[in-house]
Amino acid sequence: MAKIVIQGGCPLEGTVRVSGAKNAVLPILAASLLAEHGVSQIEEVPHLLDVENMANTVAALGAKIDWKGTTVRVDARSLYSVTPPAELVRRMRASFVVAGPLLARFGEAMIALPGGCNIGPRPVDLHIKGLEALGATSVVENGFVHLRAPRGGLHGARIYLDVPSVGATQNIMMAATLAKGQTIIENAAKEPENVDLANYLNAMGARVRGAGTDIIRIDGVDTLSGATHAVIPDRIEAGTFLVAAALIGRGVYVENALSHHLMSLIAKLEEAGATIEDRVDGIKVWPCPSGRMRPLDVKTHYYPSYPTDMQAQIVAALTVAQGTSMVTETVFENRFMHVAELQRMGANIHIEGRTAVIDGVARLSGARVTATDLRAGAALVIAGLIAEGETEVHGLHHLDRGYDNLVAKFKRLGAAIERFEDIGQSAKSVG
Ligand code: EPZ
Repeated sequence: MAKIVIQGGCPLEGTVRVSGAKNAVLPILAASLLAEHGVSQIEEVPHLLDVENMANTVAALGAKIDWKGTTVRVDARSLYSVTPPAELVRRMRASFVVAGPLLARFGEAMIALPGGCNIGPRPVDLHIKGLEALGATSVVENGFVHLRAPRGGLHGARIYLDVPSVGATQNIMMAATLAKGQTIIENAAKEPENVDLANYLNAMGARVRGAGTDIIRIDGVDTLSGATHAVIPDRIEAGTFLVAAALIGRGVYVENALSHHLMSLIAKLEEAGATIEDRVDGIKVWPCPSGRMRPLDVKTHYYPSYPTDMQAQIVAALTVAQGTSMVTETVFENRFMHVAELQRMGANIHIEGRTAVIDGVARLSGARVTATDLRAGAALVIAGLIAEGETEVHGLHHLDRGYDNLVAKFKRLGAAIERFEDIGQSAKSVG
């Protein structure tokens, strides 16, 4: 069992570089399955459990993967399966976005239903509905959904998404690249990761327009080829460092972060009293003068509104704000599990419906806490950085899914933070 141990109170200072975006790499690796010709080269790929999982999923379908440093080459010219291993899909629901590429290229896909996770039931009904609109049939049996394209292949359609689902937009967009005619996705998800995916698809020879707006048009083509693409920076990793630095910094430069992907968060940090400076290839942040944030009212929603993936981190920060804050989670049904862990550290939070009411306290105290999901883990690390005394964070398999070298990066900023892996009887520090 690994754990992170933090001595709180050390001010953060210096420069930290953000890695490539997990939530862009995952669909981009899946999209590589569409390439009948040539080899894809994906750059700025972070070393994360989720990315390994997607690479294994794509490899299990027959693609050849060559991963060196932060570059992954994918040769998908000769695939031999349309059924990714169920345990990989169940381990990471994002694997479900291989459905669109397989269906479009081979007319068939057989995918385990991913099921829910800690933060909510997370259905895939909109994915399936969208693929059916392109002409596919779907049969759910033995925990799998079996999708089949009509004899002549998929055809274009006008699809209105009831919810601007990130994953459903990705699956439909990828499937539509090889469908006959034009597809229009209305109320599409506008996340930067979807724009990055569309840019990669267009580099492969697709004709996708309007990504980043709520209407995406895709004109189908006959075939796609491998392409080279550098993935955008991870805005949620960047946001995590911005929140920590706004709380306990002495001026931190978050390199490779794009402020136009983080407008809603930057606005909230400025409202709380931090100073944010936008630079050519990064963002500089200075903490709130008193070291304590002003209280905030935050509501998560779909991009470009405040991201749900930054909800836990801001809740942790507001536990020591000067007054009462309200944080409302509108995207996922069950994304406040970090609250109970923060209460162990002395936070004064109560939940009313989908709102966390946070009465700021003078200080948190270190404790043994456990991450319940990826972003909850990041929130507990932030709480440990500001708490008095020692905090032990457990449940690191959640953090490892989405943060690349988090401990080393905070250490470089001056945090007193160590990671320990249990090796045999003793726990050994691994930096
Ligand atoms: C993506 O998940 C991200 N994951 C999530 O980040 C992020 O929280 C989420 O988008 C919202 O921004 C990846 O990109 C890999 P959705 P996704 O489909 O695509 C409902 C992280 O921390 N819905 O946009 O699964 C759903 O239940 C992760 O990095 C349906 O009802 O999210 C949810 O309430 C966590 N039917 C809402 O839509 C569907 O078919 C948004 O989900 C699909 C979704």
